[in-house]
Amino acid sequence: MGRRRGRGAVPPSAGEATDGGRPLLVSGDGSLLDELARLAAATGAAAEVVAGPADIAGVRRSWGSTPLVLVGDDCADAVARLQLQRRGGVVLVDRVGGAGALERALRIGAEQVCSLPADRDRLAELLAACADGPAGAPVVAVVGGRGGAGASVFAVGLAAAAAAGGSRSLLVDGDPLGGGLDLLVGAEHVEGLRWADLAGTSGRLSASTMRDLLPSVRRLSVLSWEHGASTPMPVPAASMQAVLSAGQRGHDLVVVDLPRRFDAAAESALNQAALTAVVVPTEVRGVAAARPVVLALGRLTSSLGLVVRRTDGSTLDPALVADSLGLPVLATMRAERHLAESVEQGLGPLRHRRGQLGRACSQVLSALGGRKDARS
Ligand SMILES: Nc1ncnc2c1ncn2[C@@H]1O[C@H](COP(=O)(O)OP(=O)(O)O)[C@@H](O)[C@H]1O
Ligand SMILES: [Mg+2]
Repeated sequence: MGRRRGRGAVPPSAGEATDGGRPLLVSGDGSLLDELARLAAATGAAAEVVAGPADIAGVRRSWGSTPLVLVGDDCADAVARLQLQRRGGVVLVDRVGGAGALERALRIGAEQVCSLPADRDRLAELLAACADGPAGAPVVAVVGGRGGAGASVFAVGLAAAAAAGGSRSLLVDGDPLGGGLDLLVGAEHVEGLRWADLAGTSGRLSASTMRDLLPSVRRLSVLSWEHGASTPMPVPAASMQAVLSAGQRGHDLVVVDLPRRFDAAAESALNQAALTAVVVPTEVRGVAAARPVVLALGRLTSSLGLVVRRTDGSTLDPALVADSLGLPVLATMRAERHLAESVEQGLGPLRHRRGQLGRACSQVLSALGGRKDARS
């Protein structure tokens, strides 16, 4: 096959911005929250609030998608106990001060400590940077409600639809046992980086170098697994986070295809996703299988929607599927015609943008755009 190998070829980078969105304020202290919310409102950054330890699970849900986390000193312990992955943009807002402040900051992985009222201007500056809007591409996660639901096909369709519309799209294969997204895209013979080259990395990767070294077809970059007899090595959470972050900085859209059993890498991706689409067929057993998946997802991310795939001969109403799973429908679609031939010919599942799959993908991309607009 003679692919270009690139183990360790993507250097770390510094200074590139992370994803934008609403800042997250975490405190059970009403007066502190009021003050932070006032500062946020003054910059036009509508904040998301987790009001104290009782509500602390909300921090996990937004941890990956918010650009800035302001943690009040009263909640530092509760946040530390969540043992979240380290990320940038975390600030401890401390009113106690002393040596203890630094220790609390370290425990939550905060980059800096701001005290009130002394650092009010600094906090206003950080909040103003959020109000400037997203600086990185959104990550969309796709999960199948059951095996064979059509999640991988939909993930490829989504990335391909965005690419066909002129966006730089990155497709990340997060399912080690999924069979390889490069095969579905038709990029298995294109040389470039595979997971084996990147799975040991963490921290900041250079977005432009990663983009240049990944296999690419029809403006779509894809990060997939090696094809071999052995089971692919699992990807560490830190590597998934580093890859997605570099993807966000170097592309206009990042789509990650996830397995239904979430490993550390999948949890990390869900943390980072602005939207997670669950693909469910209109089948009673399919909906039953999707229920625990949706339940598990609800603990990891807050922005969830359904892509309902009408299976031939089924009379189950998509609205009933949505009702039963308690999630909104992002799109519905019937079977994509000639899908197998198109994939066989190396053209990917999305041959026509106006087909069933193409239209459903456009609807999800519009929903994503709407969410971004609402946030900025
Ligand atoms: N939109 C679709 N239209 C028609 N057939 C589909 C569609 N999505 C998936 N399929 C069929 O289902 C099979 C499994 O799809 P896949 O995306 O691999 O499922 P999952 O990733 O959820 O396990 C595909 O090989 C294809 O035959
Ligand atoms: Mg799959």
